[in-house]
Amino acid sequence: MKPLVSASLLSCDHGRLAAEAASMESAGADMIHLDVMDGVFVPELTFGPAAALSICRAVRIPVDGHLMVEIPDGQIEGFAKAGCRYVTVHAEPCPHLDRTLSRIREAGCLCGVALNPATPVEAVRWVLPVVDLVLVMTVNPGYGGQAHIEHVRPKIGILRRELDELGRHEAIVSVDGGVDSGNAALLRRAGADMLVAGSFIARSPDRSSAMEALRAK
Ligand code: DX5
Ligand code: ZN
Repeated sequence: MKPLVSASLLSCDHGRLAAEAASMESAGADMIHLDVMDGVFVPELTFGPAAALSICRAVRIPVDGHLMVEIPDGQIEGFAKAGCRYVTVHAEPCPHLDRTLSRIREAGCLCGVALNPATPVEAVRWVLPVVDLVLVMTVNPGYGGQAHIEHVRPKIGILRRELDELGRHEAIVSVDGGVDSGNAALLRRAGADMLVAGSFIARSPDRSSAMEALRAK
């Protein structure tokens, strides 16, 4: 099956986020990936719930709030109310990850957990029975347009196999960072169900062709 494509808006025009999201939807994106950064967990500062609200209103496809923030629990409600379908937190700043994921579900969203490149799969092993999405970072978070880190790819297959062994076939393994037409097919073969792409799509003259290139075998 072809991978789902989740378009990150990080490399888009931040003054036209709703229009950019609508453009990504028209070009065939399956999801909008909203990179929320607090300037603490990662150096950059990006979007808040108000921006998420205008983006969620501009599209019909799901929006995933990727929270690269030091205190995720404090942000769940805002992005849930804004209309995000998924809220994805990083395992690293969550000492009570299972409870944080429950809070996302209680807020009416599907829950995701992200792993930085150096973070082992073991960090999420005991929440695999309850997550809806696992986000494998193939860049160190904080910026778009970075080089893809190839040596973390084995995590993708390990996670896909572990989720399948638990019967969690509907849970999504998503890959985020430096994804382009040169590595997309390999990532799919490695077990990725979804590919997040920002600069590859935003910089392409034809966004629809760029997304098709990510889905090509
Ligand atoms: C990085 C973000 C990624 C980023 C992907 O911290 O989490 O979603 O926007 O951008 P590209 O595809 O340009 O690496
Ligand atoms: Zn992201």
